[in-house]
Amino acid sequence: MYKAPRGTFDILPEDQEYWKYVTDSAISVGQLYGYQPLETPIFEDAQLFSRSAAEGTDVADKEMYIFTDRGGQKLALKAEGTAPICRAYLEHGMFNLPQPVKLYYITSFFRYERPQAGRYRQHHQCGFESIGDADPLLDAEVIDLSQRFLYSLGITEFSTQLNSIGCQLCQPIYIKALIEYYSQHETELCPDCKVRLLKNPLRLLDCKKRICQKIANAAPKITDYLCPECQAHFQSVQHYLTVLGIPFTLNHRLVRGLDYYSRTVFELETLNGKSQSALVGGGRYDNLIEQLGGRPTPAVGFATGIERLILKLKETGETIKPHPAPMAFIAHLGDAAKLAAIKLSARLRAAGIPVVLATGAKSLKAQLRQSNSLGTSYAIIIGEQELSSANIILRDMKAKEQTLIPLANIDKALLQKQSQGQV
Ligand code: HAM
Repeated sequence: MYKAPRGTFDILPEDQEYWKYVTDSAISVGQLYGYQPLETPIFEDAQLFSRSAAEGTDVADKEMYIFTDRGGQKLALKAEGTAPICRAYLEHGMFNLPQPVKLYYITSFFRYERPQAGRYRQHHQCGFESIGDADPLLDAEVIDLSQRFLYSLGITEFSTQLNSIGCQLCQPIYIKALIEYYSQHETELCPDCKVRLLKNPLRLLDCKKRICQKIANAAPKITDYLCPECQAHFQSVQHYLTVLGIPFTLNHRLVRGLDYYSRTVFELETLNGKSQSALVGGGRYDNLIEQLGGRPTPAVGFATGIERLILKLKETGETIKPHPAPMAFIAHLGDAAKLAAIKLSARLRAAGIPVVLATGAKSLKAQLRQSNSLGTSYAIIIGEQELSSANIILRDMKAKEQTLIPLANIDKALLQKQSQGQV
C-alpha cells in the first residue's frame, strides 16, 4: 500500500481547525501591521536558492529538492520564502512603490531533512517581509509582530533570542578571530564542526553537541567586533524594543541557518518543549536583493513554522473549536423517498443549511449510525408512509426525540433552530 513520502503527512479533517486557527491569526496580525499577501510559485529557478542561501549552508548543499524539467531548466521546490519574495519584489518593480513594502505569505516549503517531531521534508510557514528600509525600528517592529502572533495564538512560553552578526565590513574580521580561536580547539570538535570550520565558521557557534557548546560559549563574541554603524544599529534595535515593551535576551551564539543575514538576527524559542524549539526565525538581509540582481535594498523579516506552532498548541492543551458538523442528515427509505430527499437536499442547501444526503439504499439503522458518526444535530427521515401525507420525521440526534412536521416547513424549522443556536 502507498504511504505519504517520508517526512510528509496528510492534514486530516480533525486537524484542519488548528491550521485555520493559525493561518487566520497570521492574516489578522499581518493586517494589524499593514502587510499585504503575496504568493509565489511552488518551484523556482534552483539558482535562486543556491545563490541566496550560499554554499556551505545545509539548505543549499544537502536539502534542496532539485529537478530538471522537460525543457532542461534546473528548478527547485521552494526551500524557503525570503528569496522568492525578493525575486517577486524585483520582478514586479515594487522598488517603485513607497518603501518599505510589507508582504506576507503562508505556504509549503521542501527540505530534505532527517524527519523528527517538528522537522519535516514538506513543512509550512507563515512569513513576513518588510523590504526597502534600513530603519532599526523595522527590526524591532517585526520582532514585536512575531511575538504578537504567538500571543494571539495563546502561546506565551517562549524566549526571544537576539544578536547582531554584523555586515560585510565587520563580519570578516570577526570570522578571522573565530577561525583563529577554533583552530586551537580543532581536535576536540565534532566531525560536523570540523567541516564548518572550513566551510561556514559562523555556524560553529550553533552546534548542539555538548563538547562543541563548551567551546562555543568561550568563543570571541561578534558584538565585540561590530563596526560603529552596526553597533549603532544594534543599540537602536534594542532601544526600540524597550520602548515597545518587548522582552528579549541577547545571545552572542545566535547565528542563522541561512546565509543571507546581516546585522539583526533573532529567534523565538519555546521553553521546555518536547519537539524542535525554534518557533520563529528571522532577521535583516540587507544584501540579498543586490545579490539577486537588484539595487542595494535593505530588508528585514521572519517566518514561523505552522507545524511547530500546532505541536506547541497541542502540547499546552490549547483547545480549538472543532470544525462544525453538517446540521442535518437526510435519510430516506424507498425510491420515491430518495427522490424527495434529493429535492429537499437542494432546497436546504440553497437556504444555507448544511446537510448530508444519504446515498444508496441502506437500512434506517445504518443511515442513523452514519448521521451519528458525522455528528449532525438532526436527522430528517423520509419514509414512503410520511411522504404520502407530505410529512417528514425530524429527529433530534442528541435528545433522541422525533417530531412529525410538514415537508414544506422543514427549512423554516431548521433555520429557526440555527438562529436559536440549537445545532
Ligand atoms: P528558517 O529558520 O529556516 O528561516 O525557517 C523558519 C521557521 O520555519 C523555523 O523557525 C521553524 O519554525 C520552521 N521550519 C524550518 N524548517 C522546518 C522543517 N524542516 N520542518 C518544520 N518546520 C520547519 C527561513 O526559512 C527564513 N526564510 C525566515 C526569514 C524570513 N528570514 C527573514 N525573513
